[in-house]
Amino acid sequence: MERSEDRWRPGQVRDAILDVLGAAGTPLSVMEICERVAASAGPVPRSSIQSYLSLNTPGLFAREDRGVYRIAGQPDLPLPGAPTDDLVSRDPFRFGRSTMLHAEALDWLDKRPPRSVHAVVTDPPYGLFEYSPEQQRKLRDRRGGVWRLPPSFDGHRRSPLPRFTTLTPVQLEELERFFHEWGRRLRPRLVPGAHVFVASSPLLSFIVANALSRSGLERRGEIIRLTTTMRGGDRPKGAHDVFPEVSVMPRSNWEPWLLFREPLEGRVQDNLRKWRTGALRRPNKDKPFGDVIQSAPTRRTERDLAPHPSLKPQAFLRQIVRAALPLGEGVVLDPFAGSGSTLAAAEWVGYQSVGLENDVEYFDLARKAIPKLARYVPPTASRSATRGK
Ligand SMILES: C[S@@+](CC[C@H](N)C(=O)[O-])C[C@H]1O[C@@H](n2cnc3c(N)ncnc32)[C@H](O)[C@@H]1O
Repeated sequence: MERSEDRWRPGQVRDAILDVLGAAGTPLSVMEICERVAASAGPVPRSSIQSYLSLNTPGLFAREDRGVYRIAGQPDLPLPGAPTDDLVSRDPFRFGRSTMLHAEALDWLDKRPPRSVHAVVTDPPYGLFEYSPEQQRKLRDRRGGVWRLPPSFDGHRRSPLPRFTTLTPVQLEELERFFHEWGRRLRPRLVPGAHVFVASSPLLSFIVANALSRSGLERRGEIIRLTTTMRGGDRPKGAHDVFPEVSVMPRSNWEPWLLFREPLEGRVQDNLRKWRTGALRRPNKDKPFGDVIQSAPTRRTERDLAPHPSLKPQAFLRQIVRAALPLGEGVVLDPFAGSGSTLAAAEWVGYQSVGLENDVEYFDLARKAIPKLARYVPPTASRSATRGK
């Protein structure tokens, strides 16, 4: 009689174990490994899995605890355990299931194990240079630079906004190159079917979308965050009175979030079984995830918890972070984490997450902000994402 492992080529069981441990991103028990190998590649007796694990430990695998294994050489995969040289000056900060690192996004990506990220939710720098040390100094001194400081209104001081209309053709080319490079270096770290949500702006989204498509990511649409912004709508500068009935640009009432996916391995159902990714999680069983989300601007109370100039609101982030892992399993990465708001949203919905931030002041801000944002309860009207896995 043919035994179930006889149909496996040499090394195939070992590779299947590597695949499930790589996809899990955390150590797994022998029982969990058996179940996941069976779901993705077919049944293998527990005794065979056990002997592959024993044979290759130490070496390929490391024993984390009695009967619990991870891939060797990847402590705490993919949450980095020990400081590495891409950490600029601070130790990692951990809160619940989230890890925040003071790190350069592109360098960090190069050093991560392949196929260890299950989703990306991020709000990247746009002018690239609005987050350069020089422009950040100007912003912190309230001297403007590329940051527009909207006039105070009714006694309220408004948040600064980076100006995107001032970008030169050369800077736009740089932007394209940067996002192409980012996509190129991100892709090997993604598991097949991983979704990538990227906050954008109506003026620049076409450039970013083109760059990410060129990197090989598959475009899956765009999420419209319906929100009142302070962008556009102004009368001509210096000639307000002459042209009182004119707006130079439309007042923007939405924000595009580009949606991409790492190409699937097989059909959606195959990919879901093997990698736990490839689709989007529904808000509830009867309602598909939709591409228009009503979202109040980030409120003062939230800004006080996390004073970052580009803070996104929890009520919105929790919805997209939740949708990003269709089965609620895996790791969400925010490579441009700012105050750590994506990590806080992941903590709220019960997901593991990793955030990277290269500016030490924002990294320090994130350490304080993540625990507060993760507990933040928005006013009823904007509360939305279900909590818990
Ligand atoms: C638009 S902000 C994100 C803010 C975030 N949405 C929030 O709610 O706090 C982009 C962040 O990326 C950081 N950043 C820019 N370039 C980076 C890089 N190469 N690696 C890591 N972080 C970077 C900036 O310092 C900034 O805090």
